[in-house]
Amino acid sequence: MTGESPDGSAADSALPPSEQRQAVRERYGRIATDTDDGSCCGDDPSARDDGSCCGDSSDDAHARALGYSSDDIDSVAEGANLNLGCGNPTAIAGLDEGETVLDLGSGGGFDCFLAAQEVGPAGQVIGVDMTPEMVERARANAAENEASNVSFRLGEIEHLPVADASVDVVISNCVVNLSPDKPRVFREAYRVLRPGGHVAISDVVLTAEIPGDRRADPSSVAACVAGAAPIPDLEAMLTDAGFTDVSIEPKAESETFIRDWDSERDLSDYIVAARIEGRKPAPESSESPESPATTAPGHASGDSSDE
Ligand SMILES: C[S@@+](CC[C@H](N)C(=O)[O-])C[C@H]1O[C@@H](n2cnc3c(N)ncnc32)[C@H](O)[C@@H]1O
Repeated sequence: MTGESPDGSAADSALPPSEQRQAVRERYGRIATDTDDGSCCGDDPSARDDGSCCGDSSDDAHARALGYSSDDIDSVAEGANLNLGCGNPTAIAGLDEGETVLDLGSGGGFDCFLAAQEVGPAGQVIGVDMTPEMVERARANAAENEASNVSFRLGEIEHLPVADASVDVVISNCVVNLSPDKPRVFREAYRVLRPGGHVAISDVVLTAEIPGDRRADPSSVAACVAGAAPIPDLEAMLTDAGFTDVSIEPKAESETFIRDWDSERDLSDYIVAARIEGRKPAPESSESPESPATTAPGHASGDSSDE
């Protein structure tokens, strides 16, 4: 599945990376500024229009199907939950008070606001998103939610605007599949994590080859379908980045909402939502605490090679 782009970076879909980024930015820019919402994963507008696909932001049933509780939904002001996820990463992250959390592709900020409740005022949550309209919307939502321990940064998850070894937990919800360079996303997550920190990601993974014409379809890539990678590829990317305790667990129950993403094809034939986890090893107790390994094996911090 993972190929090479002409300049040597990894390309995970059949689209050139720049086209992929453009399709993703356009789609999520539209969603961020669409007050009627109508947003969701999947690439079938008719499924969205009849409310069966991810619904609108008032459709709590979809959020519950992803794993959010009614309390989660009620605890965040309307406008942050755009129903764009495929799981509930905060529920699997096991957050503690005072921790620093980074959300890759934070969208309207829903998962950031939930994480902020868990880490409390002593902790902080940073959301990173490459779509300016989405960051603007998330910042407005932060004001609405009076979430003073949440901030949003404009940037790409392949080039995180975050310092080395400064984060305890990296979360993400239905975003890594959209990246044209997933190995780099995991290397960046590893770089910014403190030793002993971990990733807790909800994302779609590939279970069967998507027909070639769909893999190169920008709207299918941007809709969280055609850019998904198979579990063995993702495991290798996490391990190569330096993570240990790597675990990728498909969630069979996601079939029900993934089916709703398209009224003409059953997308659950190709993708399933999964829980993706890994840990950045803590230094051996015999090692000096002043010399933690903050950089993935073979990857210098601040690696500036680009797609
Ligand atoms: C499917 S939405 C998920 C949003 C949010 N995580 C949620 O669950 O509601 C994908 C989000 O990731 C952002 N995104 C996609 N690819 C990205 C990348 N390479 N770097 C930064 N943000 C990205 C998009 O702009 C969009 O806001």
